[in-house]
Amino acid sequence: MGKKLYIETVGCQMNVLDSELVVGSLRRQGYELTHDADDADVILFNTCSVREHAEEKIYSALGRLRGHKRRHPEKVLGVLGCMAQKDQKKILRRAPHVDIVCGTGQLGKLPELIDQVRQGAGPQLALSLARHEASRLEVEHSFESYDPMRDPSMRPSPFQAYVRVQIGCDKFCTYCVVPSTRGPEQSRPPQHIAAEVRQLAAEGCKEVTLLGQTVNSYEYDLGDRRERLSDLLARIHDTPGLERIKFVTNFPRDMGNDLLDAVRELPKVCKYLHVPAQSGDNEVLKRMKRLYTVEYYREMLARCRERVPGVAVSSDFIVGFCGETEEQFQRSCDLVREAGFKNSFIFKYSPRPGTKADDLYPDDVPEEIKKRRNNDLLSIQGGVSLADHRRLVGCTVEVLVEGLSKAALKTSGTPGPRQLTGRTMTDHIVVFEGNERLVGRTVVVHVREASPFTLYGDVVTGEQVGAEVEEPTRLDSPEREEQGKRFALPLI
Ligand code: SAH
Ligand code: SF4
Ligand code: F3S
Repeated sequence: MGKKLYIETVGCQMNVLDSELVVGSLRRQGYELTHDADDADVILFNTCSVREHAEEKIYSALGRLRGHKRRHPEKVLGVLGCMAQKDQKKILRRAPHVDIVCGTGQLGKLPELIDQVRQGAGPQLALSLARHEASRLEVEHSFESYDPMRDPSMRPSPFQAYVRVQIGCDKFCTYCVVPSTRGPEQSRPPQHIAAEVRQLAAEGCKEVTLLGQTVNSYEYDLGDRRERLSDLLARIHDTPGLERIKFVTNFPRDMGNDLLDAVRELPKVCKYLHVPAQSGDNEVLKRMKRLYTVEYYREMLARCRERVPGVAVSSDFIVGFCGETEEQFQRSCDLVREAGFKNSFIFKYSPRPGTKADDLYPDDVPEEIKKRRNNDLLSIQGGVSLADHRRLVGCTVEVLVEGLSKAALKTSGTPGPRQLTGRTMTDHIVVFEGNERLVGRTVVVHVREASPFTLYGDVVTGEQVGAEVEEPTRLDSPEREEQGKRFALPLI
């Protein structure tokens, strides 16, 4: 009898990739995936600690499983990832029915840990040393490498894959837990990355997204020279079968001209940059230890637009950070009004124990004010996003078709053309009608209508893929207001 595995994943793309690798390694042990936790022999939560809310959701889910685990003590319950690394034994105190606590750098040990629990060895903890105690060697050993059993069914889609180019982070923004949950920044050897991309493309993958917390600080010492992200993009660019390359997330201060030139010159690289600003006020940026001023950020943005014509830029903002005054918040609003971001992810500040900000500054902006600022900034960004999307009405765009739209998924099984969704080379979401067979292919779509989050259009038949995007000609579409809604996972 096959054993069944249930896994729930929250957090960023790093976690999505980690879950894919975990599922791959457990499939090799004979596990089958199930979407029903009650039916599973092993129940895993791959967790995120970036905001308190994400952690509380996991503790509630664990609480709901308490009775189930009492009735079925043979079932194995595991907590993986960032919260496991950060909370460690606290998880076993708050949820004593948990069997496994396994940190981000230890996921390769999971099959062994599950076996030990099954053999009655009691709760298992596998955690990386705190970063100040860890030797480089330990980090290198825990360094995740390509797994040929990667599970295509866990990917965003069979023709899209995440590829880790870097682990950890050395920036230590004062509000952020990531440097302690993911450890020191290390870049993977470019040859390994290129081999992984080749293998993925040979399996039919058309788009890779290179992942790093500060991906544009990627740098690998090859002895005679140092390979930077721009070199890596050029190295993987000609991989047969590969059509698109994306990379997230960029740190503003590390946005070099060599990278921008590579984005402009290499046709397979998406003209899309996620470069979080976090705040539009210099004092707040300083307290966040972001290492740049808003003047620098504006200049960097102008450089991106000048060097990569037509580039789409998106951002992250934190509102209600310690001591943020109304005036300081207004400077974030000003930046959003001016910057022309395609979209922004906006978060209410959530104090994280163990971070510098939590030690040094009181969390003194009341929740009500955080909420109001969050809504205000979302609504300003909504207007900016609508203007950004409207520029494309009347244009033809190349769309990699990702699957059925959310609406079509609800009515799945009905015959005839379906509503499909995909993305342009600038990461804009496009919804249009077409045959399901188009999923995984690149089509040309004429954009007819725009909302703040989505373009609506029609497939252009008989036109060659690779057509130039026309200048916008008309702005006559009715708008669909979707303000306040987020449409994707927060970028790492
Ligand atoms: N490495 C990425 C971001 C990682 S976390 C980068 O540096 O851009 C993703 C986003 O979560 C961040 O950009 C930030 O906007 C938000 N975030 C991080 N810590 C937070 C906290 N304590 N409270 C609220 N939002 C936070
Ligand atoms: Fe690193 Fe990004 Fe967190 Fe800053 S916000 S510490 S750059 S992961
Ligand atoms: Fe969350 Fe860890 Fe990613 S804290 S945002 S899952 S690196």
